[in-house]
Amino acid sequence: MSIDGVLGFDGVSGPVGMFDSGFGGLTVARAVIDLLPGEDLVYIGDTGRYPYGDKPLSEVREYAREIAWSLVDDFGAKAVVVACNTAAAALPVHELEAEFAAAGRSVSVIGVIDPGAEALVRATRKGSVGVIGTIGTINSGSYERAVARASFGASVDLVSAACPGFVEFVERGRTSGEEITVLAERLLAPVREAKVDALLLGCTHYPFLARVISEVLGDDVILVSSADETAFALRDLLQTSGRAKKDENSPGTARFLSSGDVAWFETLGRQLLGPELVGAERWRTRS
Ligand code: DGL
Repeated sequence: MSIDGVLGFDGVSGPVGMFDSGFGGLTVARAVIDLLPGEDLVYIGDTGRYPYGDKPLSEVREYAREIAWSLVDDFGAKAVVVACNTAAAALPVHELEAEFAAAGRSVSVIGVIDPGAEALVRATRKGSVGVIGTIGTINSGSYERAVARASFGASVDLVSAACPGFVEFVERGRTSGEEITVLAERLLAPVREAKVDALLLGCTHYPFLARVISEVLGDDVILVSSADETAFALRDLLQTSGRAKKDENSPGTARFLSSGDVAWFETLGRQLLGPELVGAERWRTRS
């Protein structure tokens, strides 16, 4: 019997699985809980191996594969949301979807890169945009390709900047203060000089720093977060694939797991996400 059969997999009743290196994907989880309250959710934060941003993409790719498969095999996920730009840069969503399909598993896969790039192109008025992300994401060139896809030949100038250090502040629970502002002024200088009118927060941790980033760049720059856009794209994908939960009146459940310090994950995670993050559990890596 297939695993699908063992789990009674009908393509509709499984949860939406979601993962990130740590707390960043909670920005996407928040948007999904708000937009699709009837869906069940399983979130894995790989805090035991974070940060992903300065690791070789080949290493991040293996972590991403391991977690995505766990969401499907261990939790029966009907859809996987790669709520981490670095992981989506290391393991493009179409490759992950093809891998599931090759193994006979029909799972919808969605990442944050294309929904974010599409929103960025919609937001700009002048055609001059920026993206900030981890070293891994920026060096991968994923956003150059995604913005080119999203702009359909229209001329859009993109400036990219890696922001090492931002994620570490968020993971320590710090989202404002003098040190972050000083770092932001230095790292965002290329974006400011390029006079972009829209900036994509191309790392799911960065929405937690949006106030500082906006103070440094000024009110004229529209900050685009991929969290809401990814939730909308997930809703569309679940509907078109016939996987959306039918009964929207029964509230979904949410489970949160961490490969690192579970107590810290629950404490900081609840501050960042909200009251839904209770009873955090351990997720054990295979490596
Ligand atoms: N939140 C992740 C992203 O969107 C990266 C964080 C990290 O460096 O681990 O890229």
